[in-house]
Amino acid sequence: MDTIANSVSKLLTLFLTVLFVGSELTHCNVTYDRKSLLINGQRRILISGSIHYPRSTPEMWEDLIWKAKHGGLDVIDTYVFWDVHEPSPGNYDFEGRYDLVRFIKTVQKVGLYANLRIGPYVCAEWNFGGIPVWLKYVPGVSFRTDNEPFKAAMQGFTQKIVQMMKSEKLFQSQGGPIILSQIENEYGPESRGAAGRAYVNWAASMAVGLGTGVPWVMCKENDAPDPVINSCNGFYCDDFSPNKPYKPSMWTETWSGWFTEFGGPIHQRPVEDLSFAVARFIQKGGSYVNYYMYHGGTNFGRSAGGPFITTSYDYDAPIDEYGLIRQPKYSHLKELHKAIKRCEHALVSLDPTVLSLGTLLQAHVFSSGTGTCAAFLANYNAQSAATVTFNNRHYDLPPWSISILPDCKIDVFNTAKVRVQPSQVKMLPVKPKLFSWESYDEDLSSLAESSRITAPGLLEQLNVTRDTSDYLWYITSVDISSSESFLRGGQKPSINVQSAGHAVHVFVNGQFSGSAFGTREQRSCTYNGPVDLRAGANKIALLSVTVGLQNVGRHYETWEAGITGPVLLHGLDQGQKDLTWNKWSYKVGLRGEAMNLVSPNGVSSVDWVQESQATQSRSQLKWYKAYFDAPGGKEPLALDLESMGKGQVWINGQSIGRYWMAYAKGDCNSCTYSGTFRPVKCQLGCGQPTQRWYHVPRSWLKPTKNLIVVFEELGGNPWKISLVKRVAHTPAVHGQ
Ligand code: GAL
Repeated sequence: MDTIANSVSKLLTLFLTVLFVGSELTHCNVTYDRKSLLINGQRRILISGSIHYPRSTPEMWEDLIWKAKHGGLDVIDTYVFWDVHEPSPGNYDFEGRYDLVRFIKTVQKVGLYANLRIGPYVCAEWNFGGIPVWLKYVPGVSFRTDNEPFKAAMQGFTQKIVQMMKSEKLFQSQGGPIILSQIENEYGPESRGAAGRAYVNWAASMAVGLGTGVPWVMCKENDAPDPVINSCNGFYCDDFSPNKPYKPSMWTETWSGWFTEFGGPIHQRPVEDLSFAVARFIQKGGSYVNYYMYHGGTNFGRSAGGPFITTSYDYDAPIDEYGLIRQPKYSHLKELHKAIKRCEHALVSLDPTVLSLGTLLQAHVFSSGTGTCAAFLANYNAQSAATVTFNNRHYDLPPWSISILPDCKIDVFNTAKVRVQPSQVKMLPVKPKLFSWESYDEDLSSLAESSRITAPGLLEQLNVTRDTSDYLWYITSVDISSSESFLRGGQKPSINVQSAGHAVHVFVNGQFSGSAFGTREQRSCTYNGPVDLRAGANKIALLSVTVGLQNVGRHYETWEAGITGPVLLHGLDQGQKDLTWNKWSYKVGLRGEAMNLVSPNGVSSVDWVQESQATQSRSQLKWYKAYFDAPGGKEPLALDLESMGKGQVWINGQSIGRYWMAYAKGDCNSCTYSGTFRPVKCQLGCGQPTQRWYHVPRSWLKPTKNLIVVFEELGGNPWKISLVKRVAHTPAVHGQ
């Protein structure tokens, strides 16, 4: 068996070598065998971390990557986000935060390797899973299956990215930092069938055919076709094995925390458990670990997926959203990486012998018998500590922990013995503490008249907006007879609006009636409330709002949003009146968006009203603007939006993201590190707004006269918005 495996492995090496010879420059080749990736012929244990370039700013990248290097990482992993690079077919954008080449070159400058996860489907809590919305409207398209229009588009983009990397000489085979690429993402068994299989085979050979000279991986794809490597994603990776004996055991997503949804709590993953999971994977022969995320960052603009993913993508990662080191996670993992690296030679050259040291107690020993020896001692018991005897020495193992002995004698690290204090983070006010606002009421007066789309019945939201805005107005008119009894003091009629999501604000004759919001579990929502109708024509205007497009699920591209109906009036003399099949007019986006009020160029297109805290009117949909000078210092900045409702903020024309003071529901009971981790286990912030602070990148500010524009949907109070700086203090590491 082993001989067959060896021959296949040799053939693969030959195959990859042939690819390199074909490339103009022959530098370090990357191959693999059953133990690990081989860089220039050397087997390696590699520690990687995900940092997604559009989730921070180019000005932050180098610092983040240096911090990753100091944290003991070898590789930086990023997805490539197709939707931002190709906003319309054939029009590309690789500027600013989308400057992928600059990002990869920064990784190279710092001296790390890169894993380029092209996808191009990425999931990632990113809008529409990273696939551009226009692709949904290519005739006959069906995502991620054996479908010619989809495959043609996917191939076009993948080729474009590979070509771009090649021409910048960024693959390791050309002397660049990229040692690995990913095609597809978590193409699970649920999407299978013959068409699914054909698609996976096609994707693999399309990718390999691009001749990058570095291996390809398909994460969470158990049957990855040769020579593509299958890999594991999850909180743990214990049951994983490569689908062929000559492939290495790789963990492409080691979830370091979890993402946040508006209305949900913050999820934390204790570092004791995270490091336990990593040590457990390595002791089983795993040779590649990637923290998803190492720095989560921010979902700027409308990039958050969803629905309902927050603007913060902090992820409880070792480097926090703002780029500050999070303790004890960062340093404890750094110690883990050091301990693992001390075992590297034994790990890559030997297979472990597994010894029982008692109930739920094990040793994994990598011993050559002639000197090289490393051992991992594990206590899987979630409740009790144990003292074990190994090679005549005694070792104390806390519950749910692993000790690492790089020489089979001294335990240099235990996953549950954390020697670092937690960072103490403060959000401190800076000048200008408060802003001096001017306002503009979103104009609802001529909505129907300015609409260019009308239809009998209700249209699906994305079909109309193509996601050029979160907002779509549905407008209709209803005639009420002067004989209706409610007009003479009877009970008011009510309106019932059924929406596929994600939120709706109801206006009758220009007056706000109420709102309804979906949740991530149940995207749809229903509004039901009394309405003020008058005799004659009444204008019903429904503002339907998306909060990030679906990024995951079987054929998620077909999932609907917007008012799907029915829309019913109740309580009229005739009983119920169905407006669903009325003539509806549609208006994409807000007036303020059309006039580009958010940008320094468009801001003067309306007459703003000077506001004072005392006199301000609280109309429902309102724009605010103010100017401010950049505060001194270097600390990261944020806006405290606790007094606001829901909307979006722009600084000097750039959107810092959606905000929403949705209060966190959850169970914030105590959190223990031991035992199998699930996101429900360690929740924080119950009963508080899920996200109160919004990152303002320093590099977006000028010294003076910065324009801040806010669009508020729920009548929030801007007078309490303040700018704060984030300060993290970390006490010294014990014993160092
Ligand atoms: C994974 C997926 C990632 C991300 C993660 C959850 O399954 O591959 O892209 O969505 O889940 O944060």
